[in-house]
Amino acid sequence: MSHHIVEFHDVYYQYPDGTEPLRGVSFRITHGESVGIVGANGAGKSTLLLHMNGCLLPSKGTIDVGDHQVNKQTRKEIRKKVGMIFQNPDDQLFMPTVFDDVAFGPLNLGLSPDRVKARVEASLERVGALALKNKPPHHLSGGQKSAVAIASVLAMQPDILVMDEPAASLDPRARRDLINLLNDFEHTKIIASHDLDLILDVCDRCIVIKNGKVMADGPSEMILADKPLLEENHLELPLSIQGRTRRKKGGRMNDIQKLHHLIEHWLEHNQEHARTYSEWGDKAGTAGKPKLAALLKEIAQKTTDMDALFRRAAEACR
Ligand SMILES: Nc1ncnc2c1ncn2[C@@H]1O[C@H](COP(=O)(O)OP(=O)(O)O)[C@@H](O)[C@H]1O
Ligand SMILES: [Mg+2]
Repeated sequence: MSHHIVEFHDVYYQYPDGTEPLRGVSFRITHGESVGIVGANGAGKSTLLLHMNGCLLPSKGTIDVGDHQVNKQTRKEIRKKVGMIFQNPDDQLFMPTVFDDVAFGPLNLGLSPDRVKARVEASLERVGALALKNKPPHHLSGGQKSAVAIASVLAMQPDILVMDEPAASLDPRARRDLINLLNDFEHTKIIASHDLDLILDVCDRCIVIKNGKVMADGPSEMILADKPLLEENHLELPLSIQGRTRRKKGGRMNDIQKLHHLIEHWLEHNQEHARTYSEWGDKAGTAGKPKLAALLKEIAQKTTDMDALFRRAAEACR
């Protein structure tokens, strides 16, 4: 099966003003891989991704996606296979409601209204955003917009997910939710980011680009722990690895570092707990226990409110 393969053969691209961010890029990504594209600002990550669904076409060289070479004739077909999630979800969401946004693609495929509805609901459910379906996208938080943008792509049932800086505008918890979501997907994933911690958490393989070329390509654990290589490419070790090496050098973590770690951990799980209390509150209500339901709802709300305090505590550890 070659239909999930993405292969760049010596790809060059020049913008009309003469900037040439891609100068001979080659790699092959196979079915089910999760690959991070990393490089400093301006390294050409976004330009590279835009070639994967034919938004841009190479000035020289070729790109294959599955059995097709990407060109003007094939790009419509290719866009059904390659779901592109742009850096800014506002570029992806433009309809009056979340439902309409997610339905837009499937409707254009000519599916019946029933099938469209089923796909929309399944996709929103998948990203935990079904409850938002009637909301206007511009009322959503950054994390919610990002989830809906992903749902709008999932609704097209692509084989390959391509994402440009998916966590750029997310707060730590929304970022963690996104990482968990991405790790659940079995699609081929190609993610451009300078958030190397995210790449380390989500991608098994990492491609480093600089000056329009591939500078390194290999297992993320190896590439992202290679300080000299990262520095040559104007990148820094992921924070999680910096923590590991600092701790190794300085011996054991001191108490404040431990506490910081612990607070970050609590913070990561708070919202999950709040959701669980709230869901059980609903169940208590359905089971004829309104007082218990109200108490659980109050607990959920107070847990959410505590987030701000935890965040301040984490800050105070620094
Ligand atoms: N539309 C454009 N016209 C001209 N130059 C562009 C355009 N878009 C990006 N560039 C230039 O191409 C280079 C690569 O940009 P980009 O692909 O956005 O990098 P990255 O995503 O890695 O930050 C940069 O020098 C940028 O200024
Ligand atoms: Mg970019």
